[in-house]
Amino acid sequence: MHSSPNWDPRQYLRHAGHRTRPFLDLLARIPDLPTAPGRPPRIADLGCGAGNVTVLLFDRWPDAHVTGLDNSAEMLEAARAHTAPEDGGGLLDFRPADAAHWVPDETFDLIVSNALLQWVPGHPESFPAWIAALRPGGTFAFQVPGNFTAPSHTILADLCDAPHWRDRLSTHGERPAPVLDPAAYLERLAALGCEVDAWETTYIQMLTGTDPVLDWVKGTALRPVLTALQDDPTARDAFLAEYADLLRKAYPPGPHGTAFPFRRIFAVARKAE
Ligand SMILES: C[S@@+](CC[C@H](N)C(=O)[O-])C[C@H]1O[C@@H](n2cnc3c(N)ncnc32)[C@H](O)[C@@H]1O
Repeated sequence: MHSSPNWDPRQYLRHAGHRTRPFLDLLARIPDLPTAPGRPPRIADLGCGAGNVTVLLFDRWPDAHVTGLDNSAEMLEAARAHTAPEDGGGLLDFRPADAAHWVPDETFDLIVSNALLQWVPGHPESFPAWIAALRPGGTFAFQVPGNFTAPSHTILADLCDAPHWRDRLSTHGERPAPVLDPAAYLERLAALGCEVDAWETTYIQMLTGTDPVLDWVKGTALRPVLTALQDDPTARDAFLAEYADLLRKAYPPGPHGTAFPFRRIFAVARKAE
């Protein structure tokens, strides 16, 4: 079993631009929400993190009541710095919730989740409960990384399993198939009576600076390792140096920066009216 990694909002937000774009691409495909006079849209953002993408929902639905849900106290604390834009009449709140066990206790017009479900093994098993919690005509929309066979991940898994790290880290690098392919998500959600739009995009992200891929994964895939080695700074630094060296070879810097291809998987499921 993996222990829960500690999240670091500041490290995560260092690459906020590249991380925001897939959310905007997801948002652009969400159909209009079911509306009724005097009833603002009710929205849940599952795995809201530091709330920086949560607030973007008000650009599309200014009067919505949006609740951000996350299981990290650090992320929720950072998120609470955000408020709904004053001129839209919307409402924003944040609550702790574990997506692995979250069963909505109210009806939503939209349940959205960006870059969370890869951390929740077996998440498709929760789809029936989440779709059931949608108003007719409501939408469940999510984005997950689909880069688990990319060198950034395979190198990490191999290093964690190397003889000199295996005892401490063997369970921390492996991420056995945490997400499905777009067609499999489409099947699952269509079987629940939804009209589904599922697709994938590989973004060629240009990163700058020294060891930019290492800096990127420090905010995400490296969290379990950093958490496992948090009481041993010497071991942590040794691991990071070794990993950085391997990443530099896999992603050599070019004249315009370091190209870091990143595949992402999207699904938008609209419940029948
Ligand atoms: C990669 S961040 C994405 C944050 C935000 N959605 C965004 O797009 O910027 C993943 C978030 O999922 C949260 N998370 C991980 N496992 C979770 C779980 N089981 N339940 C709820 N939140 C979880 C983490 O605390 C973190 O805030």
